[in-house]
Parts: sequence; structure tokens; C-alpha cells
Amino acid sequence: MSNAIPLAQPSLTDLERQAVLEVLHSPFLACGPRAETFSHSIAELCSRSSGIPCSSGTAGLTLVLAALGIGAGDRVVVPAFGFVAMANAVWSLGATPLFADCDPRTLNVELESVAKLLEHKPRAVLAAETFGNPAGMPELEALCAAHEIPLIEDACEGLGGRIAGRSIGGFGRASVFGFYPNKQITTGEGGVIVTDDTRLAERCRSLANHGRGEDGATFVRPGWNFRLDEMSAALGIAQLSRLSEILDRREAVAAQYTARLSGNVDLILPSVEQGCRPSWFAYCVRLTGRWNATVRDEVIEAMAGHDISCARYFPSIPKTPAWQGRCEPKACHTPVADSISNRTIALPFFADLSTSDVDIVCQSLELMIERATFRHRSSSNNQVDGFDQA
Ligand SMILES: Cc1ncc(COP(=O)(O)O)c(C=O)c1O
Repeated sequence: MSNAIPLAQPSLTDLERQAVLEVLHSPFLACGPRAETFSHSIAELCSRSSGIPCSSGTAGLTLVLAALGIGAGDRVVVPAFGFVAMANAVWSLGATPLFADCDPRTLNVELESVAKLLEHKPRAVLAAETFGNPAGMPELEALCAAHEIPLIEDACEGLGGRIAGRSIGGFGRASVFGFYPNKQITTGEGGVIVTDDTRLAERCRSLANHGRGEDGATFVRPGWNFRLDEMSAALGIAQLSRLSEILDRREAVAAQYTARLSGNVDLILPSVEQGCRPSWFAYCVRLTGRWNATVRDEVIEAMAGHDISCARYFPSIPKTPAWQGRCEPKACHTPVADSISNRTIALPFFADLSTSDVDIVCQSLELMIERATFRHRSSSNNQVDGFDQA
């Protein structure tokens, strides 16, 4: 048995195992009732009228963009600091992402940066609750509404989070969830789109099912197979019944990390803004602006040497090899995202992470930071990035 501490791990019980087994004794492995039940329950949780099951978060984003008619020659605002699936979904339709910089406190898109990009006439704004933090989403929704531009909420990291009395998944024209095993709840692979727009829902449903019309037989438009299978949906239904227990536990793990690390002068910890209940997807710390990617990478490597898995969440997307040189210069000036992404460290984070393992992670992290920063102290320029002083 390994004593390694993984980065993420789903919380699974016999309830989930039984639910998946039951599907194997049923007549439906695909196109059955469970996918509909699951997506309907997710929609209800977000006070949305429609829920459309799909095969992943990326598929959900692609479906919503396509259902809005976005394609070749169009532009879509996406976060520079976030998971690459958002830019990839835009790219896969032949459209061009415009990268918005991020707010150094919340790690979500910075409003002014989005406002500037609106001058380039994008067809939509795609934005996420980074690591499950909903801060700024109501303001972003208001900005998009004022410019009559559709907001697509990438809610993949935020199931169950709330802000100002509203649920993550309730903002903008449509919202997309993904249920990969590192998420709060999982379906293996899988996703759900939620919206109050019945026509958009219908188009997404059709596009996810080879372009079939409501009769299920006529092909009314070109489409994909982006359906959710019944084993995945059954797993999702069982997981959803345990959502509040899982979220509470993740919140407790986050609180333990915060209490344990808050005195460390080399670290900036996740912020929780007033009126927000984050849904903790990941616990990401970052080294202060005094340190750079070399120090961060040494810390992550040293942690791996002690069997503790950490990750570089996230690279600044416009600076990745995939996007460097591909995006318009005016749409990839993202200094905050570039700087932050060099210094972030995602710590092991999941519901069943024990108190003693959090303690081991923190002890090791502090020691590895001390070692790495000691090695680089003389080469450090002792300059703190302005935005990190807040
Ligand atoms: C913000 C965000 N968007 C999209 C995705 C893509 O979801 P999936 O892996 O289900 O395609 C993820 C997840 O990994 C994510 O974190």
C-alpha cells in the first residue's frame, strides 16, 4: 500500500457502486431515464428550468457555443487564467478566443479587462468560477447584460457554491457543469448544461444527439454524439444525494489548510469574499511575487519526492505552447495571469483527506518552501508584484 497523498480523489461509497451495478441489470445502458433525472436535478439545484446531459464539461461548452451560432470568424472572451477547455471549445468551432486577464484576489476574470475586450465585438463571454469561487459573477453578468452580449457560465468548478443568494449555475444565458473525477461530485466523464432558455436547451439537446429533432428520428441539423451514458448518470445521481455532506467536508479541509498556513509570509492563500459561499474545487496557494516559477517548480518537485502530489494550476493559457503566437496580441495581454500562474501550487484536496494528512502536507510544504527560498534568496530581486500587496 502506498502512503502517497494524491492531488484529488473522488468520494465514493457503496451507494454509488450499487447504483452503477443496477444499470447493468437494466435494459438501458445509454439513452435511458437516468441521464434525464440527473440533469433535471442539477437544473433544479441552480433554479434553472432546463438541464441537458452531455458527455463532458468540454462537450457542454462546445454545445452552448454552437447553439448560440458561434463559429468561424467569431470571437469569444475567455479567461487567461483557467482551464484550457474554455479556449479549446472556442477553437474547435473555428472561432477565436480573446483572453481576459484575472483579478489577483479572486482569480476570476477582471471586469475591466473584459470591458476592454468587448470593444473587439466578441459574440459571447465565457467565464468560470475559478476553483469554485463565485466572486464577481453578478457584476460580470451585469456588464454582459448592459452590452447585450451572452454570458456563458463555465460552472465546472463550482457545483453547490452561492453568491448573493444565487447558485453557481444560475448566471448568464446558460451554465455548464463537468463531472470529471477531480470535481466535487463525479460521473467519471460527464457534464450537464443548465439554462432558462427553452429554445437554446432544445438546440443543445439536438446537437448532442447527432442533430436529431424532437421526434428523435429526423436529423434536423448536423451534430455530435455528446450524450451521457446511464452508468455515468447513475453514479451522478448517487453522488448528488451526498452533495451537501461532500461540500461540508471539503469546506472543513479548506478551513484546516487556511488555519494551518495563514502565518506563512511566503504564501498567499485563497480569498473568500463577503457574501460568497465557495464550492471548494481545489485549494491553491501561491508564492508571493518575490518568488518565481523556478522556486515554485522546485517546491512541487520536492513535494513529489515526499509522495505528495501538487500541481501547477493553471498555466496562463495565452502563454502555453498551444496558444503562443496563435492569438491576436491585443487579445492576449494578461500580465496578472502570467505572473500568478508562475507561482500557484494546488495542494492535495478532496473530501476524504484526513486531518493528519493535511498536517503532513502543510509541514512538508513549509519545509520545502523554506529550502527552495533559501537557495534562491540571493537571486531574488526582493520586489513584490504590486497586485500582490492587496
Ligand atoms: C473550468 C473548467 N471548464 C471546463 C472543464 C472541462 O471539463 P471536462 O474535463 O469534463 O471536459 C473543466 C474541468 O476539468 C474546468 O475546470
